Amino acid sequence: MNTQRIESKNRLPEKMHFWPRLLFCLTFFPALLVPQFTKAAITPHDPPEWFVNMGSFAQSAHGTFSCEKCHGDMKQSGKMHPDSENPSFLTTDALRHYNYQRCESCHKPSYEQYLQGAHAKALLKEQSDPVSTKKLPDNKKAPTCGNCHSSHYVKGHLSRVEIGRQMVITCGTCHPAQAATYLDNYHGKAAVNLGNKKAAFCTDCHGAHHCLSLKDKREALAACKRCHPDATASFAQVVIHPTIQDSPEKDQQKKAHITLIRVVTILMSILVILVVGFFYGHSFVWLLRELHEKLRRHK
Ligand code: HEC
Ligand code: HEC
Ligand code: HEC
Ligand code: HEC
Ligand code: HEC
Ligand code: HEC
Repeated sequence: MNTQRIESKNRLPEKMHFWPRLLFCLTFFPALLVPQFTKAAITPHDPPEWFVNMGSFAQSAHGTFSCEKCHGDMKQSGKMHPDSENPSFLTTDALRHYNYQRCESCHKPSYEQYLQGAHAKALLKEQSDPVSTKKLPDNKKAPTCGNCHSSHYVKGHLSRVEIGRQMVITCGTCHPAQAATYLDNYHGKAAVNLGNKKAAFCTDCHGAHHCLSLKDKREALAACKRCHPDATASFAQVVIHPTIQDSPEKDQQKKAHITLIRVVTILMSILVILVVGFFYGHSFVWLLRELHEKLRRHK
């Protein structure tokens, strides 16, 4: 037994290999999970509720204001509240009933841009048809200022990366397919996961309040040119969201691009699985062998 082992020519210098190898196996897998954890640690804005946390309110950008500054005479949509004649008003959704025109006096540019954008148009459409709007789930309704900003607890002067990360979650509640595809491509990984402030967040391409659809290639090119000044028309053909959610049926060109992307992705995934499988399989077998030799020597 003993002689056999010494004869074996490619015996490994066990002290060198065993522990580093085990350590590597133990740390590498958890390391792969790290981006998931950092993503989960980012919280969206506060949920709506009846009570205002005065501590957080005092620390917010609006913390020095009196309640009346934004709630005035306590009337919403022309109705007084609390209203003893109509107590059901207390159960209405504040995000739908608050008159956000009150924000205009202090935030004129944001308010005006919002009015010109896709979300205000969708809101107008909803208001013209309240019956079918009631049936819409919350994430299909058009966002008001309050969907994207917490009026009571908003913090001023946040960094670009903090706002961007928060907004990816906020936009993602209503546009999940676009958020997922964004997080899969270069900009999302660099901006959200690595905190690279030069890379693009949703609003760098779409505009925070305009929210242009960018389906028009000239608009898309103009958006890219802000950071890629040498971009030519073909650059704007890059598919940022390989998804057909919200895409009109006639967009055949995008569909063809998506098919190509899927085929390449599947081929690359197979390749990666084979390579990683071989690598780990090999390392694991090697580990077994070292363990085996170690135990034999201790006998
Ligand atoms: C009476 C004026 C006033 C009203 C009304 C008002 N705000 Fe503000 N808002 C401010 C001031 C002042 C700041 C702090 C700006 C700063 O710190 O530079 C601020 C900050 C903000 C910020 C953070 C900006 C940043 O620096 O990132 C947001 C978002 C915001 N307000 C949204 C709203 C919304 C939504 C409404 C309507 C519900 C509203 N505000 C109503 C005056 C007002
Ligand atoms: C779809 C989400 C969304 C909606 C709806 C929205 N905002 Fe914003 N807002 C943003 C984002 C994102 C930013 C961060 C700035 C940026 O990314 O350019 C921002 C920034 C701001 C700021 C800081 C100043 C600035 O331009 O940087 C103010 C003030 C503001 N919004 C007010 C409003 C008001 C008032 C409304 C309603 C009329 C509104 N927002 C509706 C997403 C939204
Ligand atoms: C900067 C403007 C602003 C100030 C200041 C402000 N509010 Fe509000 N409040 C709003 C807006 C806008 C809404 C509608 C919901 C939303 O957008 O989150 C609201 C909603 C509410 C609601 C209803 C919440 C719900 O989900 O039904 C209550 C209650 C309330 N505010 C109480 C207060 C009190 C109390 C104060 C003073 C400590 C205060 N607010 C100060 C803007 C403001
Ligand atoms: C509360 C839900 C909600 C939130 C939050 C929201 N959106 Fe939207 N968004 C909508 C709705 C509803 C439409 C209109 C849908 C349509 O016209 O097909 C829309 C339209 C759009 C469009 C135009 C799409 C088109 O086909 O014309 C863009 C771009 C967009 N949103 C981007 C964003 C971005 C970026 C954010 C975050 C800053 C955001 N949205 C946050 C609900 C939301
Ligand atoms: C690098 C620029 C860029 C970034 C960042 C970006 N988009 Fe887009 N987005 C586009 C372009 C270009 C289009 C139009 C072409 C298309 O449909 O892919 C588009 C289309 C959309 C549409 C219209 C529906 C559709 O799929 O055609 C929505 C909604 C949208 N984006 C939401 C988002 C959200 C939410 C984020 C962040 C999570 C985001 N976008 C980040 C460039 C961008
Ligand atoms: C806010 C700035 C910003 C905007 C807007 C932006 N990008 Fe980027 N993008 C970057 C940065 C930073 C990189 C990193 C690569 C580099 O250093 O050039 C990058 C990298 C890329 C890459 C991969 C790396 C490369 O250079 O080949 C592609 C593809 C790309 N962007 C496409 C687009 C398209 C298409 C648009 C418009 C729809 C766009 N980007 C809008 C900042 C931006």
